[in-house]
Amino acid sequence: MLRVAVVGSGPSGCYTAQSLVQLDPAVYVDVLDRLPCPYGLVRYGVAPDHEKIKSLQNNLRTILEHERVRFLGGVRIGAGGVPVARLRELYHAVVYCVGAATDRHLGIPGEDLPGSFSATQFVSWYSAHPDAVDDGFVRAARSAVVIGVGNVAVDVTRMLARGAAELSPTDMPQPALDALTASRVADVHMVGRRGPSQARFTTKELRELGGLPEAQVGVRPEELALDPAYLDPTALPAAQRRNVEVLRDWAQASQTASARRIHLRFFLRPVELLAEAGRVGAVRFERTLPDGLGGVITGTGQYEEIEAQLVLRSVGYRGVPLEGLPFDADHGTVPHLAGRVLREGVVAPGEYVAGWIKRGPTGVIGTNRPCAKETVTSLLEDADLLVREERQADPLEALRAEGAEPVEWSGWQSIERAEAALGASLGRTVVKLPDWQSLMSAARSQGF
Ligand SMILES: Cc1cc2nc3c(=O)[nH]c(=O)nc-3n(C[C@H](O)[C@H](O)[C@H](O)COP(=O)(O)OP(=O)(O)OC[C@H]3O[C@@H](n4cnc5c(N)ncnc54)[C@H](O)[C@@H]3O)c2cc1C
Ligand SMILES: NC(=O)c1ccc[n+]([C@@H]2O[C@H](COP(=O)([O-])OP(=O)(O)OC[C@H]3O[C@@H](n4cnc5c(N)ncnc54)[C@H](OP(=O)(O)O)[C@@H]3O)[C@@H](O)[C@H]2O)c1
Repeated sequence: MLRVAVVGSGPSGCYTAQSLVQLDPAVYVDVLDRLPCPYGLVRYGVAPDHEKIKSLQNNLRTILEHERVRFLGGVRIGAGGVPVARLRELYHAVVYCVGAATDRHLGIPGEDLPGSFSATQFVSWYSAHPDAVDDGFVRAARSAVVIGVGNVAVDVTRMLARGAAELSPTDMPQPALDALTASRVADVHMVGRRGPSQARFTTKELRELGGLPEAQVGVRPEELALDPAYLDPTALPAAQRRNVEVLRDWAQASQTASARRIHLRFFLRPVELLAEAGRVGAVRFERTLPDGLGGVITGTGQYEEIEAQLVLRSVGYRGVPLEGLPFDADHGTVPHLAGRVLREGVVAPGEYVAGWIKRGPTGVIGTNRPCAKETVTSLLEDADLLVREERQADPLEALRAEGAEPVEWSGWQSIERAEAALGASLGRTVVKLPDWQSLMSAARSQGF
């Protein structure tokens, strides 16, 4: 029997567990997560109005319900939890699938003014992450600037522009629904520092902005035309070409009156967040120009200010170091060779990585499947050596003896029942519990 700990129950952790039990009948997997709830960013990142993608949780559920897989929630590994070295003593192998939990910074003046947040903070709030803080995001805001043109920027822009009738059927926590329902944000500016052919959003997500019932999308033809690929996008890769075509259609469409307006802006590099009455009041951008076809831009020395009482910086995620594991600070990842953790350039036996902490914070849910498979292939190649190390029969007993109180699958199912009951009491469907206390008391009330 080979006992493997997978740390993190997001897509990469679940796909790692799946590959392990599929490829080797002698493997037993414990999937540990610091949260009492499984599924990582599928639960706490994928936008609540994307119900089809959210339903991937059902696929991940079947993995965690496999007879040789055990979910152990509420167990933090590293600082303040079970030390990395101790975990390695309890299992023949450990696979770290801890994702990329924090945001990248812009490094410009005013970035930390009240009213300026990372998209990560905003997403965590509307997704009911128990560590999220209700910072009154949309309160007192009429105009919002979203910096960045990736899919997360599209998500937060859409959440700001959606109306109550569209948000109410989601599993969004009630305080976030109430706040977004009362929101008076009428203008959302989503701003890219480069051109439309360099935008990172995907066409399906972009198009969705144009279909929002209560919002109108505006793009400026003169800004699009600065992009050398705009007039003849045929040489672009298909994904970028489709984006440019959608934007061109919008630039040519006539505008109608609408409660909310989404302004898609390009070739504007953020240089400063400007204060007004002690909080953010505007973002100052420098206009940029393309320098050839390679996507490089240069500043023009011309500036534009866009009014904003709310700024969401959506410029990518970043991995955080896990105490006891090596960390490449330049890339925000754990150094590895085909998934085997490298300590000072040398393979560390029995330690592996998969997902965003291995590759960096890019790629959709499905990208984590081949990534996990590569890691599992490495692990199983090492299995003959690893299995010779003597291990305690059941690591769960040792974890408990050392003070951990894992939330097992039945505890998670109690949380699910409590969320269904909360939804019914509010006249909605399932509504997520938004804080540690309510999650933990639901998890412990097995008879609920
Ligand atoms: C806002 C947002 C929206 C997205 N929407 C989509 C979408 O609609 N469609 C799509 O295909 N992709 C989407 N993605 C991308 C997708 O979510 C990622 O590809 C995927 O979640 C990465 O998987 P992961 O397992 O590496 O990390 P995660 O999903 O982040 O999982 C990491 C897990 O590790 C746990 N963990 C972290 N540290 C510890 C620790 N010390 N001890 C124990 N456990 C720990 C965390 O609690 C978490 O559960 C989105 C990403 C973001 C940021
Ligand atoms: N529906 C979905 O499928 C979905 C939803 C959400 C997320 N995801 C995936 O999750 C991953 C992460 O998405 P993401 O949106 O966080 O990251 P991303 O795709 O890497 O986009 C980051 C954006 O921030 C910009 N940026 C970076 N630094 C900047 C700076 N200093 N100033 C101004 N702009 C800056 C980038 O512009 P440059 O290109 O100029 O650097 C880019 O537009 C992606 O792979 C995404 O596809 C998928």
